[in-house]
Amino acid sequence: MGGGIAQVVAASGRRVSLHDEVPGAVERGVAAMERSLTKLAEKGGPDPAEVLERVTPVDGLVPADLMIEAVVEDAGVKKAIFQAADGILPAEAILASNTSSIPITTLAAATGRPDRVIGMHFFNPVPVLKLVEVIRAVQTSDETTTAIVELAGDLGKVAAEARDFPGFISNRILMPFVNEAAHALMEGVAEPEAIDTIAKLGFAHPMGPLALADLIGLDTCVSIMEVLHEGLGDPKYAPCPLLRQYVQAGRLGRKTGRGFYKY
Ligand code: 3HC
Repeated sequence: MGGGIAQVVAASGRRVSLHDEVPGAVERGVAAMERSLTKLAEKGGPDPAEVLERVTPVDGLVPADLMIEAVVEDAGVKKAIFQAADGILPAEAILASNTSSIPITTLAAATGRPDRVIGMHFFNPVPVLKLVEVIRAVQTSDETTTAIVELAGDLGKVAAEARDFPGFISNRILMPFVNEAAHALMEGVAEPEAIDTIAKLGFAHPMGPLALADLIGLDTCVSIMEVLHEGLGDPKYAPCPLLRQYVQAGRLGRKTGRGFYKY
């Protein structure tokens, strides 16, 4: 998602520094940006070369007005990044997380500027979907929230504000839907295609819950469900055993070529 976020921020005219510890990840992100920008240019979008010129790959955290972190859904990894960013970005900079579920309040508490820490949650594919869920930690100031809501508007997105409870709004609603679809499959109620067809044609969703889980990543879905389960304490949020089994098998969805479907 980091590449998608970098793309929409650069397309708004801002300069972006892009960093990923994983070898090859920045290159893959830039290649995805090129493909996406080419599609968008055919429909009147900005010149891909001009947008890409504003994106600079960097070797680590660098000073900036805003950081948008989009690493793996691991609270420890995210906390370490927020602590490091607190020492590198100027004191007035805002530190935002694209997390799907990790409490923003704990990320804010890891820094010396908790009032300038916020959740800025984009949706996949970032260049296409209009939503940014803006999550206020307990400590987040009104000024920070206003700045991020305005930025979302500048990126051509619509902000929906949420308080910092497990799963925020989006994943509290989406993950039980995905999980129930996995239970229906595990219990043999229907084949994946039939389950997804119900959602597509019966509820007018652009894709069914199993195909969507493959797009999000089954490992990410399980991580989010674990946060919901632990944070809200209700067994209904426990990840379906079939989802866990697919993750154990390395069937993580589109990114590994196999999840509920083969790619
Ligand atoms: N960049 C630019 N354009 C893109 C694109 C990208 N990355 N991906 C798709 N498009 C364009 C296509 O070119 C196409 O344009 P056209 O209509 O002019 O030809 C259009 O979007 C539709 O794409 P497709 O024809 O390939 O296929 P679909 O009509 O099925 O659309 C989809 C694909 C946009 C992914 C659509 O199926 C969709 O919106 N699916 C639901 C996605 C969703 O729910 N995402 C949220 C996931 S939850 C999340 O991210 C949060 C996390 O916390 C879990």
